[in-house]
Amino acid sequence: MEIIRISDIKNYDGKVVDIKGWLYNRRSSGSVKFLIIRDGTGFLQATLIKSEVDTEIFEQIDDIEYESSMRIIGLVKKEKRAPLGYEVLVNNIEVVNKAEDNYPISLKEHGVGFLMDYRHLWLRSPRQNAILRIRAEIIKSIRNFLDQDGFILIDSPILTPAACEGTTTLFETDYFGDKAYLTQSGQLYNEAAAMAFGKVYCFGPTFRAEKSKTRRHLMEFWMVEPEAAFIDLEENNKIQEKMVTYIVKQVLENKKRELDLIERDTSKLEVIKVPFPKISYDEAVEILKKSGSKIEWGEDFGGEDETILSQKYESPIFIHHYPLKCKAFYMKPDPQRPEVALCADLLAPEGYGEIIGGGQRIDDYNLLAEKIKEHKLPRKNYEWYLDLRRYGSVPHSGFGLGIERTVAWICGLNHVRETIPFPRMLSKIYP
Ligand code: 4AD
Ligand code: MG
Repeated sequence: MEIIRISDIKNYDGKVVDIKGWLYNRRSSGSVKFLIIRDGTGFLQATLIKSEVDTEIFEQIDDIEYESSMRIIGLVKKEKRAPLGYEVLVNNIEVVNKAEDNYPISLKEHGVGFLMDYRHLWLRSPRQNAILRIRAEIIKSIRNFLDQDGFILIDSPILTPAACEGTTTLFETDYFGDKAYLTQSGQLYNEAAAMAFGKVYCFGPTFRAEKSKTRRHLMEFWMVEPEAAFIDLEENNKIQEKMVTYIVKQVLENKKRELDLIERDTSKLEVIKVPFPKISYDEAVEILKKSGSKIEWGEDFGGEDETILSQKYESPIFIHHYPLKCKAFYMKPDPQRPEVALCADLLAPEGYGEIIGGGQRIDDYNLLAEKIKEHKLPRKNYEWYLDLRRYGSVPHSGFGLGIERTVAWICGLNHVRETIPFPRMLSKIYP
C-alpha cells in the first residue's frame, strides 16, 4: 500500500492507497457517507459504505469536526460524479488530531476582513490554494525565463543605507547607532552586479511605507529586477514583452485547473502576444484628459488614471518617456528632450495598471552626482554607486516587476491582498 498525494490519484485506479490529509467537508445519505479530504494537492471524495467498514468507524465519523487531520486507507475507483473523477472506498480511517468544534472559517460565506484575520487558516481554502499555486508558477516561470536568457541571479541586500525610490516611503531601523532602511528595490546593487556579470537579476521582498490604502499597494511585496549592461530602453522593453508573454503562456499551460477553479476568463490571457502597444506619456495625458481626468503634464498617474488607460487595451501597454520630475533620481534624461526620461512602465490590461517600472539609467558621472544633490540624498551613502560611473561606465537598463500585481492581473483579482500568503497592509500586520 502506497502513501499517495491526491493530485496523483488517477495513477492508482484499482489500488489500495494511504492518504494523509484533513477533513474538509462531508455529507451523508443513510448507509453511505461521503467525506471530502484535502491534502494540499487536491480535494478527494472518500466514501464510507456501511456494510464495508467497521461499524465503529462508520458511526463515529459524524462526530469528527472539520479540519481534523486523518489518514484514510481505501480502494481507488473511477467515479464520474466525484470532483476528480475518482473516489476512495474507505477501508479504514485513523484520526491523527481531532480539531476543536469551533473552526472559525466554516464553509459558509465570510467577509474579507474576517478572513484576513484568519489568513493562517484561510490559506486552506480551495480558492486561496489555487491563487498561491498560480503565484508559485509565475515565480517559477520568471526564474526559468531569466535563467535561460543568461541572466545571473545576484541577491541584493535587505538592509541598506541608501534610498532607491525616494525618501518618503522608507522603513527606517536602527543599525548599531546608524540609520538603515529596509530595501525599496535592489536596483542600485543590481547595477553594480551588471557591471560585474553583464546580465543579472535579483528577486526578493521589498518594502515601502506607503501611506495609501489602495487595491494595488502592500507594505511588503516581492519584486524581480533584471538589469543589463549595454542595453538601451528599447531592448529593455523587448525583454519585458518576452518575459510577460512567457509567464502568461506557462500559467495557461500548467495551471489550467487552478484558473478554472477561480473562474478566471482565460480568453483575456490567451490574446496576450508581442509586441505590446507603446504610448508616450504625452499621448497618455491627452487620452486621460479626454476621459475626464484632472491630470496635468508633469504629474505622475494616479491609480484611477492607470485604470482608465489600461481598460482601453486588451494587451499590456508600455507608457514611455515620463517627465523626469515625476520619476526617480537615477533615470537617464532623453538627450533629444531632457525634460523626459528614457523610461517605460508596463501597464497590465483590464484596468490592472502598472506591473513594471523600468528604464535606462544615468551613466554619466557628473550628471548622476548632480541628481544625487538635487534630490537631497546623502552623497556619502552613494559614493559606491558613483564608482560605477567612475570605472568603466556603460549605457545600461533594467526593470522591476511586482509579483503581487502580476498575480492579481493573471488571476483576475480585484485586490493584491489575496496574492501573497501573509499580506502586510496599512495598519495590519496580523497574523
Ligand atoms: O516602479 P517601481 O517603484 O520601480 C522600482 O522600484 C525600480 N527600482 C525597479 C527597477 O527598475 N529595477 O516598482 C516596480 C514595481 C511596480 O511596477 C509594481 O508592480 C511594484 O513594483 N510595486 C508594488 N507592488 C505592491 N505594493 C507596492 N507598494 C508597490 N510598489 C511598487
Ligand atoms: Mg513605478
